Amino acid sequence: MAQTDNKLRIPETLRKVKSIVGVFSAKGGVGKSAIALQIALALRDKGFSVGLVDADIYGPSQPIMLGSSAGELKLSKAQVIEPLTKEGIKFISMGLISGENMPVIWRGPMVSGAVMQLLSQTDWGELDYLIVDTPPGTGDVQLTLLQRIPLTSSIVVTTPQEVSISDCKKGIEMIKRLDKPITGLIENMSWFQPDDQDKKYFLFGKGGGKKLSEEYSIDLLAQLPLVEISQDSNIQNHSLLKMEFVNIAEKLVDSLKALKEKKSSGIPQINIIK
Ligand SMILES: Nc1ncnc2c1ncn2[C@@H]1O[C@H](COP(=O)(O)OP(=O)(O)OP(=O)(O)O)[C@@H](O)[C@H]1O
Ligand SMILES: [Mg+2]
Repeated sequence: MAQTDNKLRIPETLRKVKSIVGVFSAKGGVGKSAIALQIALALRDKGFSVGLVDADIYGPSQPIMLGSSAGELKLSKAQVIEPLTKEGIKFISMGLISGENMPVIWRGPMVSGAVMQLLSQTDWGELDYLIVDTPPGTGDVQLTLLQRIPLTSSIVVTTPQEVSISDCKKGIEMIKRLDKPITGLIENMSWFQPDDQDKKYFLFGKGGGKKLSEEYSIDLLAQLPLVEISQDSNIQNHSLLKMEFVNIAEKLVDSLKALKEKKSSGIPQINIIK
């Protein structure tokens, strides 16, 4: 088959998006959504135009964290979805389509089709960064995102314990197999320090993220503490984390710049693996 047949067209709505970054982890509940949002907010604070996609149809959490509901969404006559603007970032979620309380009983291919549609039918306009918060697992949705969305790079999230590390390996293997760059690994819930003590507690073990980063030669971008969270599940205002996300955003910006210089042609074309 000719080389050009293996290339996918970039959806029209994503053409003015300079970089697309997927936040992955094969393991559920490790903090992908919280981290995706904090990275988006840290990039916004640096003056960039930022979008956030919540691609989790089974458990969309961004609408809760951003205080938005399905009623706010507007569909234009041209079948294009207008993203919401929350906290200064453009935002869309499967939760805004299906409704927070609607049980979702869709099959894999239907779900990945819906995620693709959501991403490509949203009028993103011009964006410096689009962050994609992915659902847990290494199934259809992740595969579709990696194969059909022109991801510039990815970030992988794990917690320190063995069950997460071993799931996370599957995620890394999948991203590598599909030839997508990984900007780095974030170890979340690495340690806990009570306000009234100097001692740090490593509740979920120690060193898992570092070992994983060494095994795959991936940068360990941060080891984030477990902190007390607010009722809306937002970890945003915690001073311990604020600086961490400034650093992560800086590392991401630098890494994407380096990637682009290497490729010198903006968002990469996608090679489909048969
Ligand atoms: N460093 C942290 N300290 C305290 N709580 C955290 C931290 N990181 C995430 N959380 C909380 O842990 C819960 C799970 O996080 P989150 O929903 O971001 O995980 P996830 O990986 O996106 O989960 P899922 O796989 O279900 O999508 C949330 O309530 C979140 O606020
Ligand atoms: Mg999530």
